[in-house]
Amino acid sequence: MTDLDELLSRAQSELAASSDEAALRAWHKRYLHKPAGEVEVAVRAVSSVPGDKRKEYGQKANQVKTALTQAYEQALDAEKEKALEASLAATPLDVTLPGRTPAVGRLHPSTQALRRIAGIFAEMGFQIFRSREVEDDELNFGLLNMPAHHPARDMWDTLYTTTPGVLLRTHTSPGQIHVMRQVCPKPIRVILPGMCYRKEQVTTRHEMMFNQVEGLAVGERITLADLKGTLLTFARRMFGPDRQIRIRSSYFPFTEPSIEVDVDWPRDDPNCDRLTKGTGWLEIAGAGMVHPTVLRNGGYDPAKFSGFAFGMGVERTVMLLHAIDDIRQFWRNDLRFLRQF
Ligand code: PHE
Repeated sequence: MTDLDELLSRAQSELAASSDEAALRAWHKRYLHKPAGEVEVAVRAVSSVPGDKRKEYGQKANQVKTALTQAYEQALDAEKEKALEASLAATPLDVTLPGRTPAVGRLHPSTQALRRIAGIFAEMGFQIFRSREVEDDELNFGLLNMPAHHPARDMWDTLYTTTPGVLLRTHTSPGQIHVMRQVCPKPIRVILPGMCYRKEQVTTRHEMMFNQVEGLAVGERITLADLKGTLLTFARRMFGPDRQIRIRSSYFPFTEPSIEVDVDWPRDDPNCDRLTKGTGWLEIAGAGMVHPTVLRNGGYDPAKFSGFAFGMGVERTVMLLHAIDDIRQFWRNDLRFLRQF
């Protein structure tokens, strides 16, 4: 019994004298470590205590062990707290400093251009219509007035899937048929933005994928003048308030008449020559009055309804405006390029 009292008071005063974590751990090793710590040994010694004293000894030994274990844990916690406070004091944290701005992503230049174009047409009452990128031969060509073997199919180098008759759309024009069939017989005013695919030899000027924005208006009294006015308004909102447009005759199987539309460029802009190859005119769209056959394929009676359609290339416009000389930059995912927009 006296041994246990002596052990307790010796361990307590040594613990109180342990002034850092290392000393505390050394103390623990000496007294509480299993199996060789002094307290552990004392607890096990119960087996050699004579029978009548054994119970009392056992209880006392366990009390000593519990008391010392608790004291040790408290001392260790206090020591850790002290160490934390010391390290905070040594490297002060200024919570009033401005934070680090997280790197924020941005919209792809094509997306930015698509949104701007969509915004301009929205102000003129055009809704956005989404149309699929994997198409039937029939939608991409046939219903657009190009039956099988029609020579105009060569205007688009087509990527076919392994399923016969299924291809990647070469232009957004098949969307015209989808809209007409869905909306007929009501009037239409929509744009159809989206990716198109062509089997091109990839160069600085040609890519196998690009965005187009198709426009389609169908109604009972729609004329070429409406098409002209719509594209003139677009050109002025997109490129500047004093722009003029110019119309050249062209050919597409799905429009009659077909036109190509240019916008004039200010001669005093130092970029004018580069953008317009010296002509002062920049091509922005292919367009025309929807061919009667196409109207009929969409469900509209061409004797009663007429319509206009146009298609413009998005990356082309972005390239011209920002003097980008390599179209391959658009899908290369090079942050040095993308961060500039
Ligand atoms: N689909 C044509 C192209 O990709 C553009 C176009 C659209 C022309 C609508 C006329 C009307 O070249």
